[in-house]
Amino acid sequence: MAVLVTGGAGYIGSHTCLELLQAGCDIVVIDNFMNSSVEVVHRIRKLSGENFQFYNMNLLDRDHLEQIFQKNKIEACIHFAGVKAVGESVRFPLLYYKQNLFSTINLCRVMQKYGVKNLIFSSSATVYGSPEKSPITEDHVLHATNPYGRTKWMIEELLKDLSLSDQDWSITILRYFNPIGAHESGEIGEDPKGMPNNLMPFVTRVAAGEYPMLEIFGDQYPTKDGTCIRDYIHVVDLACGHLKALEKTISARGVDIYNLGTGQGYSVLELVNTFEAVTGMEIPYQISKPRAGDVAICYADVTKAERELGWRAVRGIEEMCRDSWNWQSKNPIGYCSEVKTL
Ligand code: UD1
Repeated sequence: MAVLVTGGAGYIGSHTCLELLQAGCDIVVIDNFMNSSVEVVHRIRKLSGENFQFYNMNLLDRDHLEQIFQKNKIEACIHFAGVKAVGESVRFPLLYYKQNLFSTINLCRVMQKYGVKNLIFSSSATVYGSPEKSPITEDHVLHATNPYGRTKWMIEELLKDLSLSDQDWSITILRYFNPIGAHESGEIGEDPKGMPNNLMPFVTRVAAGEYPMLEIFGDQYPTKDGTCIRDYIHVVDLACGHLKALEKTISARGVDIYNLGTGQGYSVLELVNTFEAVTGMEIPYQISKPRAGDVAICYADVTKAERELGWRAVRGIEEMCRDSWNWQSKNPIGYCSEVKTL
């Protein structure tokens, strides 16, 4: 029996595929390389020493998805695939609703048809909008502030309705905080196309000399140094959280929701200072205007995941910075440095 991983060539998906293979799981992977590269698949195979079935397809293609369920014995799905850039979602809301919602509906319909009812869904702390307080518990009121966030929120609601309609479903919703870092080998990591939106890939590219300086979006927030606080989590810890969630999903019924973070907040300046200290690289920066929609403080209460999944993040902020830089320096132009076909 295999675990189907959608979006398995993406940043979090690729690290999770590797952990699954290393744990002895059989996986079947789908990706359309919209925001990733075929090279990722080669590297997962190389790192794990394992082969696995890979399909280059868009989840909007339901017929193709059905063929995959016919050809493979699927026991559970981990659904990472989706579009995820906040600014782009504001400019192209229809594309975001279509891609994220329709693909999830297709996946669930095909799962239902083939009697596969174990699902893990990648949600995001973005569904908490501007949190009233941190640490944030899973029962915090939901309030997404942009189309991307609303697609995550809507999918969560859709999955709850699905579970209510058929109690055989076992669904685990994972709300990620801010994943950074890379596999310690430096073979897989985050490779955003074009100018990065998120902090860490921008920092590593400044360190590499690709951009002259980092803009820090605001230093007048009500925090210790005036810059925003986030819960950065090492992507390998996040990947391991999926393995624990999988064990639970396969043995349970109903819907469960978990925050996956470290439970500890760091400011933008703390992250930049730690990166400089760990790597010895200088990050020139200037303070600029706050970014629209940014919240001052956002970090997780992780007690539910610790208690019910038996999982907690173990890698610290130094390791996150070291591994992000290791990935960047080994892959100055990301995965494009080696182009191969499947
Ligand atoms: C962002 C998204 C969120 C998404 C998450 C995925 C927004 C408003 N939110 O969250 O919906 O789920 O990414 O990882 O885009 N920063 C700078 N300079 C930069 C980039 C970022 O100062 O060049 C600051 C930001 O103001 C923020 C912090 O760094 O305070 C982290 O930013 P980012 O990595 O974009 O994550 P989030 O804003 O938490």
